[in-house]
Amino acid sequence: MSSSRNLLAISLVGLGLCACGGEGGPGQDETDTSGDEGDPLLELPEDFPAPAIPESNQLTAAKIELGRHLFYAEELSANQTMSCGSCHLQELGFSDGEVTPIGSTGEALTRNSMGLTNAAYASKLTWANPNLDQLEQQIAIPMFGEFPVELGITGHEDEVLARFAEDPTYVAMFEAAFPDASELVSFDHIIDALACFVRVLISGDSPYDRYRRGDQAAISESAARGAALFFSETLECHHCHGGFNFSLATRHANTTFTQNAFQNTGLYDIDGAGSYPPDNRGIYEFTFADTDMGRFRPPSLRNIAVTGPYMHDGSVATLGEVLDIYAAGGRVVAEGEPWAGDGRANPYKSGLVAGFELSDQDREDVLAFLTSLTDDSFLTDPRFADPSP
Ligand code: HEC
Ligand code: HEC
Repeated sequence: MSSSRNLLAISLVGLGLCACGGEGGPGQDETDTSGDEGDPLLELPEDFPAPAIPESNQLTAAKIELGRHLFYAEELSANQTMSCGSCHLQELGFSDGEVTPIGSTGEALTRNSMGLTNAAYASKLTWANPNLDQLEQQIAIPMFGEFPVELGITGHEDEVLARFAEDPTYVAMFEAAFPDASELVSFDHIIDALACFVRVLISGDSPYDRYRRGDQAAISESAARGAALFFSETLECHHCHGGFNFSLATRHANTTFTQNAFQNTGLYDIDGAGSYPPDNRGIYEFTFADTDMGRFRPPSLRNIAVTGPYMHDGSVATLGEVLDIYAAGGRVVAEGEPWAGDGRANPYKSGLVAGFELSDQDREDVLAFLTSLTDDSFLTDPRFADPSP
């Protein structure tokens, strides 16, 4: 488990702003430094770095507003029953409260709907795809993907575009967003506008943020003790959920390299040899390397109290259960249950998921800390809400 060792060498302790490090650990060069430090459209907290924004899709107010309308538009799905917002609800940190969602035509997805809080900073997108670096690439998947079908646009392209091209309100918004375009209503423009909207979904004003900026009264004493435990070498959480965005898989405009973001946390071992259930094998599905079995991206823990159920397959109902699994050093799925096995013994599990003892008070404290990461102003911000009356 050499990657766990590398993780240990890297100091992501506390809320040092850099998840990029400058010490230890191999990584890839990231040269995207096009972020605009002072972009007023982002409304960044002053202690957040600027996200990396591609030169080809700079933020404008008109693109963000078009993206917001498209995000909530059921016309974007072929059968007009579903929008991005059907699986990404603002009050749930843009997750959906389901174990796993159903697409517009009734097909079941195998992955839990991700929250979109601070997706602009994700170094790799989705639960386990080593090849998805940009929101513009990722957003095409729910639109056109066929395995499974989400919005189901493939085969209905002209029909879907015509709905927007024939709607004067949308035409005006496309004109404002893409003033010099020869082809106004196109999927490239739809994707760019959606990506701009998703990039401004920035959250950095939770009670815990106010506490670490100096307001001692912003969180309870219990939550403050929980934070100390979270950042301790006993619990080890911060190695994978550290930095300003509480995720190892973070990059920003000045990131020079990113860590191997994907980790196996010992949720399954269905054959005693480390296997995860079919369709949910982590980046192994791309690399076919045994050591990548069960490796998923550590999600940001911002707004985590409202984004349950948890993990890539939604198989853990509550934060308390998540904590109990880490305390046990992995999950035992009992005989007779689907995918039974002792995840604690998974040979590919990270060395950082080794288990620890927690008193009842400690457990309550860590849960209070995790709950202090809920940013109500983000969950109710009218800039991110469904614009339809
Ligand atoms: C049927 C439900 C569903 C719909 C509709 C849907 N999503 Fe998602 N979304 C998901 C799931 C599930 C994931 C995790 C996918 C995975 O890991 O394979 C996800 C992941 C994402 C991510 C990655 C977040 C991250 O941090 O990596 C983004 C961004 C996203 N969706 C945006 C959108 C947008 C924009 C739309 C509309 C074009 C959309 N989604 C439509 C269910 C949905
Ligand atoms: C070795 C890296 C690692 C360590 C250490 C670690 N995590 Fe995680 N965490 C992950 C990964 C990877 C996932 C996603 C796993 C999956 O879905 O299979 C995850 C998922 C989670 C989730 C669910 C996120 C969601 O959106 O569903 C929570 C909550 C969480 N971790 C909290 C913690 C806490 C608290 C600790 C310390 C006790 C901790 N983690 C330690 C890597 C880690």
